[in-house]
Amino acid sequence: MIVFVYFSLLILLPLSSSYSVDECFINDQNNYVARNVPKSDVDLIEFPLNLEFMEAEFFLWGSLGYGLDKFAPELADGGPVPISAQIAKLSPLIRDVIAQFGFQEVGHVRAIKDTVAGFPRPLLNLSRESFATVMNDAFGHPLEPPFDPYANDINYLLASYVIPYVGLTGYVGANPKLHSPTAKRLVAGLLGVESGQDAVLRALLYERGRENVKPYGITVTEFTNRISALRNKLGRHGIKDEGLRVQREFGAEGSIRGNILAGDKYSLAYDRTPEEILRIVYGSGQESKPGGFYPNGAEGRIAKSYL
Ligand SMILES: *[C@@H]1O[C@H](CO)[C@@H](O)[C@H](O)[C@H]1NC(C)=O
Repeated sequence: MIVFVYFSLLILLPLSSSYSVDECFINDQNNYVARNVPKSDVDLIEFPLNLEFMEAEFFLWGSLGYGLDKFAPELADGGPVPISAQIAKLSPLIRDVIAQFGFQEVGHVRAIKDTVAGFPRPLLNLSRESFATVMNDAFGHPLEPPFDPYANDINYLLASYVIPYVGLTGYVGANPKLHSPTAKRLVAGLLGVESGQDAVLRALLYERGRENVKPYGITVTEFTNRISALRNKLGRHGIKDEGLRVQREFGAEGSIRGNILAGDKYSLAYDRTPEEILRIVYGSGQESKPGGFYPNGAEGRIAKSYL
């Protein structure tokens, strides 16, 4: 018996030590508990927590008038209260959709924090002025009166257009750099739902594409085109963002101008690195210059390495 155990250990030891990564992936019906992903995966997974916090707060506040501090304070983990988040004036349909998005984002924050330690909620600037600044930058001059994301359905949908898409390009960019199955499964799951949210937002805006955003006399489509062009400029890495109507050569198969979903020449989702994402969400075009939605900068090792 003792000999047998000793012999088994001899066989098992070299095997188990050849796995530098100690992973456990327990499938418990639809739930999973995952631990010990390699360090490089941890950095790549914790980075998008910055965006998920912002989405959770913006969607919960916009639809329900409260955020994580009321719904799931343990996830905010003592992070500062978001600046000037508020409830939006929404129709029942849009409020319902956005509330679903809000709770989905809470799930995403939870999923990331259950997988890696993560960090408390960073300071988020969700004030009207913060979104108005994005729109002014997108048009290259101040809109008068300043854009108010919380004023009505169309404004809120346009403000929302600014967010999940950036997260989804980040997940596409992170995927090929991941090593562990646990991290890949998590990122695929997050990407799927973020893309879905982006598609819903784009479809709702597409339906309203020819309507003017009041009181500017500028169409919804033009707003999306301008916001996407701004993100391309800030990201400094070519075209990775497209509005609802494009030149024919940028449409699917170079054959159509309607652009309900953004995609490259193969209609595959664009990818972005954390650096490109920081340049966009800081509104500064520089990963080392915080501002915009993150006045104190984003959290986590990757973002901190630039500050
Ligand atoms: C929030 O953003 C607006 C617009 O950029 C800015 O004027 C305001 O000072 C910011 N608030 C904080 C506390 O950073």
